[in-house]
Amino acid sequence: MNYNKKSVEDIDVAGKRVLCRCDFNVPTKDGKITSDKRIVAALPTIEYLVKHGARVILCSHMGKPKGEVKPELSLKVVAERLSELLGQPVKMASDVVGESAQSLAASLKDGEVMLLENTRFEKGETKNDPELSKKLASLADIFVNDAFGTAHRAHASTAGVADYLPAVCGYLVQKEVSIMGKALADRPFVAILGGAKVSDKLNVINNLLEKVDTLIIGGGMAYTFLAAKGYGIGKSLFDAEKVDYCKDMMKKAEEKGVKLLLPVDTVVAADFPNPIDAPINVKTVDVDQIPADMEGMDIGEKTRELFASAVKRAKTVVWNGPMGVFENPTLAKGTIAVAQALADSKAITIVGGG
Ligand code: 3PG
Repeated sequence: MNYNKKSVEDIDVAGKRVLCRCDFNVPTKDGKITSDKRIVAALPTIEYLVKHGARVILCSHMGKPKGEVKPELSLKVVAERLSELLGQPVKMASDVVGESAQSLAASLKDGEVMLLENTRFEKGETKNDPELSKKLASLADIFVNDAFGTAHRAHASTAGVADYLPAVCGYLVQKEVSIMGKALADRPFVAILGGAKVSDKLNVINNLLEKVDTLIIGGGMAYTFLAAKGYGIGKSLFDAEKVDYCKDMMKKAEEKGVKLLLPVDTVVAADFPNPIDAPINVKTVDVDQIPADMEGMDIGEKTRELFASAVKRAKTVVWNGPMGVFENPTLAKGTIAVAQALADSKAITIVGGG
């Protein structure tokens, strides 16, 4: 695929204030970063900007502080790690678009780097509030989006700000998009979707049906499809408003010649485990035998084999979402089986999710 989006190399960044959105949503424990992979992944773009004399203003979200300042979700730890990795200071603002951010941004020199506080400390971030986007834009001359892991969120610091500044992408976004583009050319192309709700994946299902040879649906969302086919699903997850949508998608799959694979058996239990990893009594039944007082919580063995054999024939596999309540060891087997099938496969495999 020819990558046809403008990148950092297509604009002159020397002496310019560049607002660069990264995904520094790193895992932490007791105030320490437990994996710095996302920070490392952002380095090529940041190093390019530094080397070419930009005044680099980085920003990111971390966790879900819901518009409130939560000290435990401060990006200070990221600034410290980034500074070690870059081998130069990273100035930390104490707010997102307030006085601290503004004065630090105004005083930055060519090649210097600063980091704004967690963008989700601002209420307008997740609402994609234009006022916040404008304030963010006012800090800089150019916007670079390199937050691949957050690219699916239309928030003020990812999508909104691009309305007010010349915008290009960074190396991480460029790399991921071109890998995806190349991968999607290799057939058979199998997509596997799981997770709890059909409504979370509406557009994805519709779009995938235009592209894939086989679409596998497991996890909680599969039960709404099974209900749409007329099966009794007991107490399993059910998205009543999406039954017609599921019927439309099954019809579309048939018209497009896409094989749509649903579970043929399921692991059921009387109640959802509480706590989630508590020991649980389960049994496996075919999907036309789900007892009215039980809930499906994982794909059964026959389904695992069915899904694994579809993966075996694939040249490209894209997977998003678990096959069951994977947090519980008894109900994790379906998700692990799919992971194993991907690991054993020679296909290009792309796994996404939070
Ligand atoms: C992620 O970790 O999946 C991204 O950083 C997006 O985070 P979010 O799910 O909190 O929006």
